[in-house]
Amino acid sequence: MGDARLERVAEPVTIFNTPELHTLVQDLFDTMRAAHGVGLAAPQIGVNLRVMVFGFEQNPRYPDEAAVPETVLINPELIFCGAEQEIASEGCLSVPEMRGDVPRYVHLIYRGKDACGAPIEQEARGFHARIVQHEYDHLEGILYPFHIFDTAALLRLRQRFAEQGGQSD
Ligand code: NI
Repeated sequence: MGDARLERVAEPVTIFNTPELHTLVQDLFDTMRAAHGVGLAAPQIGVNLRVMVFGFEQNPRYPDEAAVPETVLINPELIFCGAEQEIASEGCLSVPEMRGDVPRYVHLIYRGKDACGAPIEQEARGFHARIVQHEYDHLEGILYPFHIFDTAALLRLRQRFAEQGGQSD
C-alpha cells in the first residue's frame, strides 16, 4: 500500500496463449503460494494487466474456510446476484500485518478467460465470492482499506479543518 502501481486501473489482455502470459500466471501462483495467499492480482507484482489467480486447498491465513478451486481469471467481469452483502475479515499481501472488516456481495457470477483464451463462467458464494471481489478491486486500483474508511467522517474532519482556516489540499 502506498505504491502508485497498486492504484492504477489495469489494462485488458488482448493476446492470449503467449509465453509471456503463461509466465505471468506461473509467477502469480508461485508468489501467492510462497506468501500463503488465497489470491493475487498482476498489479501486486507490478504488472498492469487484468490478470488474477486465486484458490487453495487449505490455507493457514484462513483456516476455517472451505477450499476454492485454483483459477486463472483474465479480463474478468462480475455479475452480482442480489443485493445481499456480508462483512468479514480480510487481509491482503499488499497491506502487510493488517486485517479489516470489509462488506462484500455474498453471491455472484464471474466471467473471463483463462491464459489460453478459453471462456470461463462460474458462480461463487461466500468466501469464494469475497476473494474474487478482492482481486477484482486490485485490477481497479482499489485496496480493501479504501472500503473501510468512513468518508463522511473524513469530510467532517476536512470541514472542521477548513473552518479553522487550514489549507486541506
Ligand atoms: Ni489483496
